[in-house]
Amino acid sequence: MAEQEFVVTPWEVRGEVDYGKLIRQFGVSPLTQELIDKIAAKAGYLHPFLKRGLFFAHRELDLWLKSYESGVNVVLYTGRGPSGKTHIGHLTPWMFTKYLQDAFNATLYFQLTDDEKFLIHPEHSLSEVESFAYDNLLDIIAIGFKPEKTKIFVNTGYAKTLYKIAIQVAKHVTVSTAKATFGFTDSSNIGILFFPAMQAAPCFLPQELEGKDTHVLIPCAIDQDPYWRIARDVAPKLGYRKPAGIFSRFIPGLGRGAKMSSSIPETSIFTDDKPEDIDRKIWNAFTGGQPTIKEQREKGGNPDICSVYQYYYYLFEFDDAKVKEIYENCRSGTLICGDCKRKLAEIVKKFMAEHQRKREKAKDLIDKYLIRD
Ligand code: TRP
Repeated sequence: MAEQEFVVTPWEVRGEVDYGKLIRQFGVSPLTQELIDKIAAKAGYLHPFLKRGLFFAHRELDLWLKSYESGVNVVLYTGRGPSGKTHIGHLTPWMFTKYLQDAFNATLYFQLTDDEKFLIHPEHSLSEVESFAYDNLLDIIAIGFKPEKTKIFVNTGYAKTLYKIAIQVAKHVTVSTAKATFGFTDSSNIGILFFPAMQAAPCFLPQELEGKDTHVLIPCAIDQDPYWRIARDVAPKLGYRKPAGIFSRFIPGLGRGAKMSSSIPETSIFTDDKPEDIDRKIWNAFTGGQPTIKEQREKGGNPDICSVYQYYYYLFEFDDAKVKEIYENCRSGTLICGDCKRKLAEIVKKFMAEHQRKREKAKDLIDKYLIRD
C-alpha cells in the first residue's frame, strides 16, 4: 500500500484518511455553512463538533430539514456494533445525536448489532457479543437521551420485528451489489451477506411502528455509508423516503495518525478506564514534540501531527482563543508536551468521572429505553 492510500469500509479503516477524497469516493456532500447555521438556529447554539468540522459530510440533510419545516415526522437512527468496551471515539457521535434529538425533539431509534459482530469476528461467541451489547447499552443510556423518545434494541432481542423489514430489503439486494458495496467474497459467510439488510431495516422501522410518513436522519461515522447506499436504493421500491445522513470523521487514537480502535487499547480511552489509566495513556501519547525540552524550546513542536492537540481541537477545548493559544505556544516552543498532556489528562479524567457516574445510574434506567419483541 502506497503511503497516501487509505481504505474505509464498515469493518476496516486503514491508512491516513483523506476526507476530501472520501467525499468524492462515497458520493456524499460536504456539510455547508448554510446547513450548519440551520441546525444551530434550531438547537439554540452551534455544536462544537459542527464548528470544528468533526461532522463534515451529509446525504440530503437539506431535504430532511425541509421535511421538518413542513411538518413531516422526522426521526433519528443510529447504532453501535458491540465488539468490545466503549471508548471515547464511540461516545462522540452519540453526544451529537443527543444534540440533534433535543434540537428537533425527534424520536431516536438505536440499534445494537450483536449479530453483525458475531458474524464478522471469528473469535467472538454469541454470548460474548450479547454481553458487550448490554454493557455498551449503559454507555448509551448515560448520554442522557430523552427516555420517552428513545428506543434502543439489540438485534437478537428484536429480531422478529426487524426480520420482516429486513427480508423486504434483502429481496432487492443482489449478491453482486453486496459484494461491490461491502467487499464480500465467495468465502464470506452467508450470515454477513444478509446482515446489511438488518442494518438497513431500522431506516424503515419508524414508518412501520408509527404508521405515518417519516423522514429518517442517520448521524454516524462516515464508514457506515455503504449501508445507507443500500437502504437509499431500496427505499423507493418499498414506498419509503430515502434516509438522510450526517457523517463524522474518525476520532484519532493516542498513537500516530490512526482511528481510535479497541484493538490498540493503549491508544484508546475506554469508559471504564481509571484515572491512572487515563494519565498513563495520555502520557504515552504520540505528539508533535521534540525529543528534549531544550529542542522544544528552540524549535517548537508540530501540533498538526500531534494526537494530544487533536484531542483539544476536536473534543475538549471549544474556546477558539484558547485552542489557538495552545497551537501557537506549541509552535513557538513556549508550551512543553508534558504540561500540555497533564492538562489534557485532567480534562479527560473529569469528563470520564462524570460519564461513569451517569453510567452507574443507567443500570436502573434500562427498562425505560430498551425495546424487545
Ligand atoms: N455497524 C455499526 C458498527 O459496527 C453499528 C450500527 C448499526 C450503526 N446501525 C447503525 C452505526 C446506524 C451507525 C448508525 O458500529
